[in-house]
Amino acid sequence: MPAEQVDYTPAPLDRDATFYVAGHRGLVGSAIWRLLEKEGFTNLVGRTSRDLDLKNRDQVFAFFEETKPKYVVLAAAKVGGILANDTYPVDFLSENMQIQVNVLDAAVKAGVDRLLFLGSSCIYPKLAPQPIKEEYMLTGHLEPTNDAYAIAKIAGILQVQAVRRQYGLPWISAMPTNLYGPGDNFSPEGSHVLPALIRRYDEAAKTGAATVTNWGTGTPRREFLHVDDMAAACLHLLEHYDGPEQVNVGTGTDVTIKEIADTIAKVTGFTGTTEWDTSKPDGTPQKLLDVTKLTNAGWTAQISLEDGMRSTVDWYHQHADTLRT
Ligand SMILES: NC(=O)c1ccc[n+]([C@@H]2O[C@H](COP(=O)([O-])OP(=O)(O)OC[C@H]3O[C@@H](n4cnc5c(N)ncnc54)[C@H](OP(=O)(O)O)[C@@H]3O)[C@@H](O)[C@H]2O)c1
Repeated sequence: MPAEQVDYTPAPLDRDATFYVAGHRGLVGSAIWRLLEKEGFTNLVGRTSRDLDLKNRDQVFAFFEETKPKYVVLAAAKVGGILANDTYPVDFLSENMQIQVNVLDAAVKAGVDRLLFLGSSCIYPKLAPQPIKEEYMLTGHLEPTNDAYAIAKIAGILQVQAVRRQYGLPWISAMPTNLYGPGDNFSPEGSHVLPALIRRYDEAAKTGAATVTNWGTGTPRREFLHVDDMAAACLHLLEHYDGPEQVNVGTGTDVTIKEIADTIAKVTGFTGTTEWDTSKPDGTPQKLLDVTKLTNAGWTAQISLEDGMRSTVDWYHQHADTLRT
């Protein structure tokens, strides 16, 4: 048996055990929380960053000592788009390292039974062959604009593997593709491509603008997963998968940015034309995860891009006054 292979058979989680969702107000954490409530978990624990700053090691250890969670999903992280990552690399490296190391160390001390660490597809090399398999991690150079964040996430995956090896705890890691959905960050500075496009098209629809101009040619291909699907995948993995290697979580299919823009124009009711500023860079031509491992574990995505986008735009409208800035 390889060193990181622990003697554990995945099984349904105990609905009455204490389950800590770190980052329960975020895009991913809130979706996991909603799902766990729906699935009958009776003892969910969450703390805002204001109540428990996960960078504070003493506070984190005291929290684990007090609550003794049996299960943990680590969905708390400093997250942002390209601009934020490129501008504040120290924050993305240092804060994420601190959060992870504190939570994982405290979880070892508390003997947490099952833990899911969330990373991101940016851990893979910039020029990885497509679709990207889990085994491509650490086989090439990272995308420089978010390398600090990616290195922190890679360290988290290795720490989970090291805990398996040293302590025999059946902890796992999942690497989601681009996520979207209710609870997303629509702020102009911090947002990812999809909420940024929703905001842009929605504003254009409201003001009756004739055109929307997007960066690049619109030809790069990207994969998007609705966050409710992501939450379902997380619970599925916790109950059906065990292994040292991180598991990619995506739909297995990608679309062009142009197709995405057209869908967003449709669901926001924008009737003007879209122009593409081809003097601006395009980014990587394709980014698609290979989801064979996830499919073999018995899970596939359920929410179509148009349905998912529609519910996201509805949520965006309903929460216009309380969006993150
Ligand atoms: N969004 C995506 O497209 C995407 C794609 C791939 C992977 N992921 C991964 O999924 C995870 C969650 O991302 P997300 O999109 O849900 O991010 P998010 O919406 O920004 O939420 C992150 C959460 O982390 C919490 N947090 C941040 N710093 C903290 C601290 N010092 N102490 C305590 N809590 C802290 C925040 O809590 P408060 O609200 O209380 O401040 C926030 O709710 C991350 O690991 C990310 O890498 C996301």
